[in-house]
Amino acid sequence: MTTATLPDWKAGLEDVIATRSAICTVDGAAGRLYYRGYEIGDLAGRLSFEEVTHLLWFGERPGDAEGPAFAARLAGARGLPAPVAALLRTLPRECHPLDALRTAVSFAATLDPDVRSDAPEANVAKSVRLVALVPAVVAAWHRIRAGLEPVAAPAGGGHAAHFLHMLEGRAPGADVARVLDVILTLHADHELNASTFAARVAVATLADLHAAAVAAIATLKGPRHGGANDDVLAMLKAIGDPAKVEDYVEARIGHRDRLSRAERAAPGARMPGFGHRVYRVDDARARVIRVMAKDMAAATGRTRLFEVAEAVYASVTRRTGLPVNVDFFSAVVYDALGIPPDFCTSIFATARVAGWCAHALEQYADNRLIRPRAHYVGPSPRPLIR
Ligand code: COA
Repeated sequence: MTTATLPDWKAGLEDVIATRSAICTVDGAAGRLYYRGYEIGDLAGRLSFEEVTHLLWFGERPGDAEGPAFAARLAGARGLPAPVAALLRTLPRECHPLDALRTAVSFAATLDPDVRSDAPEANVAKSVRLVALVPAVVAAWHRIRAGLEPVAAPAGGGHAAHFLHMLEGRAPGADVARVLDVILTLHADHELNASTFAARVAVATLADLHAAAVAAIATLKGPRHGGANDDVLAMLKAIGDPAKVEDYVEARIGHRDRLSRAERAAPGARMPGFGHRVYRVDDARARVIRVMAKDMAAATGRTRLFEVAEAVYASVTRRTGLPVNVDFFSAVVYDALGIPPDFCTSIFATARVAGWCAHALEQYADNRLIRPRAHYVGPSPRPLIR
C-alpha cells in the first residue's frame, strides 16, 4: 500500500489516538485532569506522592497496609550509587542539569541488577529504583556543580522532604515539604505528553526501562515541553519588574502578525508557559499552582517575582487568549523554594518519572511495536541515470 491510500496525516499527531491507556486522561475543554478516575484537585495534598505513584502504577490507591509498605520500598531504594556520584563529578560544571540527569540515568542502567530482564516484577523493581534515583541525581548535581558534596539525607521521611533535604543539606520545614509533595503529584502524569510517548515508543521496541527513561528525559528537555519550565523562570527573572511587563510582552509577541509562520514558531516569538496542545482553558494544575505560588511568595517574602508573573499572565491572556500551562506558575513556586532557573525542568522530571514508569509498565503488559507511517511527499519513483 502506498501512503497515498492511507488516511490523511495530522501535523504533530494532533488528536490522534495512539494507544489505549487506563492511567490518566485530560479533558481539554474543561481544563480537567484525572489519574485513574480521580480528579487531580482531589488528589493533590490528600494523597502523598508515594500514594499517587502507587495509584498510577497499580491502578488503585494503596490500602492501609500497602501504603506504608510501598513508601518503605521506595525509601529503601534511596541513595546515590557511588559510581553515579563519581560520574557526575566528571561532568563540566556548565552541564545543563537535565543533561546531567539523562547521562546519569543512562549510566545507572549499567549498574542495575535487572537491566536485562523485562519480567513484570523486574520492571517494578527498576521503576522503584528510578523514582529514587532521579531526585538523588538532581540534588547531587545541584550541589556538585556548586562545589559542594552530595548529601546523604536520613533514610526516613516522605519522598518530597527527602529530596529537599538532599538538595539543601538540611531537613525542610513540614510546610515546604508539603508544597513540593503537591507539586510532584500535579506533575506526576499527563496522558500521552511528548516525553511519555517517547518512553512508550522505546518500551514498544522492548528496549529496557532505563532506555525508555533516557528517551523520556531527552524529550522533556525541549522548550515546547518541559524545557518551558526553565524558560519561564529565566524570563520572569529577566523582566524583574511588573512595570516592565507590557514592553517585554509587546517586544516578544506584539509583532507576531507581521511574522512568517516559521518566524512565529521560533521559541523567541512565543511566551513560555502559555498554550497547550490539549487544553483550551487554564488547566486545574495551573489553577492550584497559581494559588500556591501566591502563598509561597507571601511566606518567603519573594513577592516581586509573583507580581511579575501575575502581570505577564494578565498581559498574555488578554492579548492571545492562550491558556496558561502548568510550567508557568510552578516556576514561581520553584523560585520560592530557592531552585535556580535551569533546575526547574529537572524538578519536573523528578515527578514525571512516576508517570513514565506507569506508562512503561502498561506498555510492557500489552505491547505492540509503535510504528506509524509518514505521508510521503517526496519525488515519485524515478530511474537512476548515470
Ligand atoms: N506564545 C505565543 N503564541 C503561541 C504560543 C505561545 N506560548 N503557543 C501557541 N501559540 C500560537 C502559535 O504561534 C500558533 O499560532 P500561528 O498558527 O498563528 O502561528 C497557534 O498558537 C497554535 O500553536 P501551535 O504551535 O500550532 O500549537 P501546538 O499545539 O502545536 O503547541 C505548545 C502547543 C505547548 C507547544 C505551544 O503552545 C507552545 O509552544 N507553548 C510555549 C511552550 C510551553 O509553554 N510549553 C509547555 C507545554 S506544557
